[in-house]
Formats: sequence, structure tokens, C-alpha cells
Amino acid sequence: MIKINENYKKLQSSYLFVEIAKRVSQFQKENQDKEIIRMGIGDVTLPIPSVCIDAMHKGVDDLSNTKTFRGYGPEQGYDFLREAISENEFKSRGADISADEIFISDGAKCDTGNFQELFSQDTIIALPDPVYPVYSDTNVMAGRSGNFANGKYENFIYLDSTESNNFIPDLPSKKPDLIYLCFPNNPTGATATKDQLKKWVNYAKENKALILFDAAYETFIRDESLPKSIFEISGAKEVAVEFRSFSKSAGFTGVRCAHIAIPKECKIWDKAGESYSLHSLWNRRHSTKFNGASYPVQRGAAAIYTSEGKKEVKAMIDYYLENAKIIRNAMINLGYKCTGGDNSPYVWVKTKTSSWDFFDSLLKNAGVVCTPGSGFGKCGEGFVRFSAFNTKENTEKAMTKIAHIAN
Ligand code: MLT
Repeated sequence: MIKINENYKKLQSSYLFVEIAKRVSQFQKENQDKEIIRMGIGDVTLPIPSVCIDAMHKGVDDLSNTKTFRGYGPEQGYDFLREAISENEFKSRGADISADEIFISDGAKCDTGNFQELFSQDTIIALPDPVYPVYSDTNVMAGRSGNFANGKYENFIYLDSTESNNFIPDLPSKKPDLIYLCFPNNPTGATATKDQLKKWVNYAKENKALILFDAAYETFIRDESLPKSIFEISGAKEVAVEFRSFSKSAGFTGVRCAHIAIPKECKIWDKAGESYSLHSLWNRRHSTKFNGASYPVQRGAAAIYTSEGKKEVKAMIDYYLENAKIIRNAMINLGYKCTGGDNSPYVWVKTKTSSWDFFDSLLKNAGVVCTPGSGFGKCGEGFVRFSAFNTKENTEKAMTKIAHIAN
């Protein structure tokens, strides 16, 4: 008899964004003539920069010619892309990450979800609350969570991100082995300073813990004093791994391309205290389970680092940040407290009703979709997240509709 992985029974009924899509599609079915403006899932609306499109076309043409054809690429990614990332994303900011410490993949969702496979079953996990559900759900699937009660899994250490700590979690009182951090944060939009990250790096060093740092939204940081990478913090290379993505920075949500930086000095240990290189372990896992991101897509991603690519990406991020400002200002004018939206594409809004009630009422009365904060964890109750990735026209229209129902 084929048996279920019992851990799957501990998952909440459906993945957050699937549940939202289900409610929205039901509403649309019942209200076919009603316009719906989507500010829920962080999916982009602007087209991919034209330099990337040209490079992808050229990449496809390469595949049509015997002389330039490529079959399986290196699982870790092509050197042309890894070198461009190392120079432009890390070395240019004083973070010493070399090309061979970078692994190209087909998305940060898969990377942040898969990475936990390298760790023992009894690894103690610390994760933010509210949290990007992938960190939590994949550790539930792997059997590290214990049971779910009162909105929390019993074995996880929750790093509460609330108004009282400005959505920057404090160090935990219980000791974790693996710590998930995400800045600019999804969902709260909060950003961490160098001093705040330094505290986490020191803590990880003292406790032989590892930080999984999700920097998927770093392109939105415009305040030059804020770190874009955890590797801008001295000592981080021994205790951190960083995840990045082209999805939000260059409109690749449908194309799929991301990368992980794993410094060679980063170590983990077995029960006997013998150390292992995390870089080698991931290399083993990645080359066993992944056959490389597609060649035309990697060509497209590399074009981001040309001078024209940088200009186009900047214009795209400026556009979304302007939307974030529109959302933030409109909600503040309506009397809501907001965080995020200045160095981040997400605006985290404190509601006057429960998260799902606010979501349902906004959908029904204004035709606007947001994401209920409680879907990201217990501390998200009483908040919703607005994504700035729609068009400017729709963002303005949505805010006018919300103002209309509020008055
Ligand atoms: C989000 O809306 O939180 C993200 O778009 C989800 C993702 O990147 O998988």
C-alpha cells in the first residue's frame, strides 16, 4: 500500500496565493461585469527590458545553428552570467563573492524551498512571523514543524515582527540552528540596517547557526545607507547564504531565473562534529536534481548588467516604487498606518477589521485584491499587504475606489 508523507497532513489547507486566486475567481464568476484590480501576489506587469528580450532572441538564434548550438549547460549556470552577477551584484558593493560561489536556478521560490534538504531532520528552525509561506511549508513537508496549534507550529521558533519592534525581529531566546531572514521583507516591506544585520551575523557565529538570507527585493533599496546583501556585513561569509531573483528586478516571473550565493567558507557539521562545505553539498544536490536554467534565459539575464540594461531596470523599479508611494500615501490619507513601500514594492497596512474580512470587503465593494496578512502567519493578523506591481493607472484607480468605499 502506498502511504502518504504524514507531514503533508500538517500543512494548512492550501498555499496562500492559491486560496486567494480561488476566492477571486469565484467572485469574478459571480460578478462577470465587475473590474478586478490585482494587488495581491507580487507578479509584475511591465514587460521585460528590451535589452534582455534582444539577448534572449539572440540566444534562441544560437540554438538554431550547429556552430553555436548548446545542449545541456553547466548545472551551476553559464560563466558569462555567474561572472556578471559576481561583479555587479556583489563586488561592486564590497561583498567578496566570486563567480564560482554563485549557482543559477529557475527561481528563488524553488531555491528557498529546496535548500532545507541539506540539513538534518532535527534542525531547529527560526523564521519570521509574518513569513513568506515557502520557508515554513517546506520545513513542514520535511517533518521539522511538529503540530499546528493556535496559529503556530510547535517546533518552530517564531521571530515576531510587529509594530512594537518596527517589524525587525529581535534575537530569539531559544537557540535555532537555521535562521530565515528576508530584507526588504516580504510581506511587511521593512528593511534592515547594517547594524541590525550585524547582530544576526554575530549571533549565528556564536551559535554555529546558519542564516538563509532572502534578498529577492534588494533592487528596490534606494537608501544608500541600507545593505543590499548580507555579505556587506563582515563575517557573514562564514554563516550565511543569499538568495536573489530576476523575477522582480527584471520582470522574469514568467521566464524564471534566480541565483544563490554560497561562500566557500560556509560550513555545517555532522553529529561527530566533523565539518562539511555547504558549497560542495549544494553543488552535489544541484547537479543531481537540476539540469541548468535555459540558455536563452541566462543570456537575457546577463543583459541586465549592460549599461542599457541597468538603465532599463532602474526605470522599471522607479515605476513600481512610484506605485508603492501612491498606495502608501492614499492609505495614510484614509487614516491607515502603513510600513514598507519606500525601499520595497510591498506596503503593509494595519486594518481595522480582521485580515480576511478586510480582504473580502475590499474585493466585494471595490473590486481590489490585496493579500490578507494572517495568511503570512499569526503576527500578520490585522494587516494586509498591497503589491505595487500593477500598472500606475490601475494603482491610482484602485486607490480611488478604496477611498470611495471608505467615505
Ligand atoms: C509574493 O507575492 O509574495 C511573491 O510574488 C510570491 C513569490 O515570489 O513566490
